[in-house]
Amino acid sequence: MIRDIQDEIVRLKKEKNICILAHSYQSEAVCEIADYTGDSYALARKAAEDKRPTALMCGVRFMAEGVKLLCPQKKVILSHPEAGCPMAEQFGPFEVEAFRKENPGVAVVAYINTSAELKTVCDVCVTSSSAVDIVRKMHEKDILFIPDCNLGEYVASKVPEKNIITWMGGCPVHARVSQWQVKQAKAAHPNALVLVHPECTGEVRELADMIGSTSAIMDYAKNSDHKEFIIGTENSIVEHLKAACPDKSFYPMWKEFLCPNMKLTTLYDVLACLKGQGGEIIDIDCDMAAKARRCLDRMLEM
Ligand code: 13P
Ligand code: SF4
Repeated sequence: MIRDIQDEIVRLKKEKNICILAHSYQSEAVCEIADYTGDSYALARKAAEDKRPTALMCGVRFMAEGVKLLCPQKKVILSHPEAGCPMAEQFGPFEVEAFRKENPGVAVVAYINTSAELKTVCDVCVTSSSAVDIVRKMHEKDILFIPDCNLGEYVASKVPEKNIITWMGGCPVHARVSQWQVKQAKAAHPNALVLVHPECTGEVRELADMIGSTSAIMDYAKNSDHKEFIIGTENSIVEHLKAACPDKSFYPMWKEFLCPNMKLTTLYDVLACLKGQGGEIIDIDCDMAAKARRCLDRMLEM
């Protein structure tokens, strides 16, 4: 049954010349029918390179908006209209503008998990895989890093020469995990390495053997000689790694490590989008798009 739907999706995407992008937090079934899977950075790059006129983003709204900003000529469809990332809406442009007035000379770095509107007032975007490198290359010393204070603190620890200011924002899914869950998982699997996303809190990162983006975690686990891993990010990564490396063991850090927004998209939604009966076509006001695009372009340049 799943296979039949997947076959129909593959047939339709070829017939209609549609590129399917799936973030790694999507289910294995959705990733299997995608042209590209990966972390937010990989998807943004692939979308910008791909020549097909339509992109279907199986992920959350800021990812689809990011594709539309980078490729305004493309028709961009978000797989499920309600799939948003709560972190992307945590701050508005007026707060950043007020901060800038009081702190001239401070650069504003926006995690890519932000709305297009918020990107209009930021200097550069970063993803979890590019944040450290980009912040290190910036010429400003004082940097406001929004919205994720956990990622911001992680970047600050890696780039101590910068003065990084953070606000109280972050991912509600990653921030819910505490040392208690890590210790429980380690007690159950004492030989496993602990791989953690930088959106986790400092107390969780402290217990990690490796910290990285979703793609970095997957690459590390695939290439390591080690055989057992506790995965400190959304549980889809456990599912994908189990499929990719059947000779290794992967354990969720916590069974409730699930992003409800990422999980909204099913194969039926993908099929409906390809038939023109579902999803949402992303439309961004031209003025807003021109301003918001600057910080994404700067990210790709850097
Ligand atoms: P990545 O940049 O690692 O893909 O993370 C995106 C995200 O939403 C993590 O919660
Ligand atoms: Fe947003 Fe967190 Fe879900 Fe990632 S895991 S999409 S940051 S809510």
